[in-house]
Amino acid sequence: MTNRVVVVGSANTDMIVRCDHIPQPGETVLGGEFVTAAGGKGANQAVSAARLGAEVAFIARLGADIFGDKALEGYKAEGINTDAIIRDPGAPSGVALIIVDSKAENSIAVAPGANSRLSPADVEAAEALIAKADVMLLQLEIPLDTVAAAARIARRQGVQVILNPAPATTLSPELLSFVDVLTPNAGEARRLAGLPPDDPTPRAEVAQILRRHGIEVVVMTLGAEGALAAGPGGAVTVPGFEVTPVDTTGAGDGFNAGLAVALARDPDDLQRAVRYGNAVGALTATKVGAQPALPRQSAVEALLAGG
Ligand code: RIB
Repeated sequence: MTNRVVVVGSANTDMIVRCDHIPQPGETVLGGEFVTAAGGKGANQAVSAARLGAEVAFIARLGADIFGDKALEGYKAEGINTDAIIRDPGAPSGVALIIVDSKAENSIAVAPGANSRLSPADVEAAEALIAKADVMLLQLEIPLDTVAAAARIARRQGVQVILNPAPATTLSPELLSFVDVLTPNAGEARRLAGLPPDDPTPRAEVAQILRRHGIEVVVMTLGAEGALAAGPGGAVTVPGFEVTPVDTTGAGDGFNAGLAVALARDPDDLQRAVRYGNAVGALTATKVGAQPALPRQSAVEALLAGG
């Protein structure tokens, strides 16, 4: 079984401060240690998939600066194909300012820099690379027309498209029509379904509303509870794993990478793929930072065997 994943998305350097609580507007909070770590939803997914044993290509834009140098070095060290990563002298590399509270929850502000210049033409130029993949992973920290172009190419090339709709925004019916698997969290799912955040519609029904856009599978992530997988055969909740969370940053990216790798290995076993994603997400939450926390295949298999 082949196991090739192409990721189109963002690359950031994360600047993380741990605080007792996330500051309110106008409030200053004295925090703990400052950590700089590799991040960005796209890069996290690419690195995670590589650590889980997939053959990974990453399509992205980095600034021609020291953050970009370090990021590129990191991807190469993970064995990721970086042929379609463009160094852009016209914009700085992406940066994310992250505050993590004592409950492991975070608040993130992103300065996208070069990520916002990843264009449909950049992705079109990488069509041959995309055609070699089994699965494409997409998120929303790059321009939406680039996400749509990537999904369109993947569909044309018979590559399965997984879209993680984060950060949440409104998506065009055209983009959704190219998506095979949509992976919103509960809040993103309600927003995409056109429902207010406090709407009481049961999760399984929200997933079915989204499936009516022509999406075969909706996997709604539920944090520590696990994930709800809704496909043609109905909806099922796949429970999460009990861990002690330290920092949930990147846990969703780990989940998506785990799901993608497991689906690339066995496209017919959705529940198994969701359980695999849950294990990757849970382990990611046990360490500080996104990329430093993403687990290797052996750790995931150990959790799956014991859980
Ligand atoms: O999903 C976590 C990521 O979101 C962080 O690594 C940060 O860079 C932001 O993109």
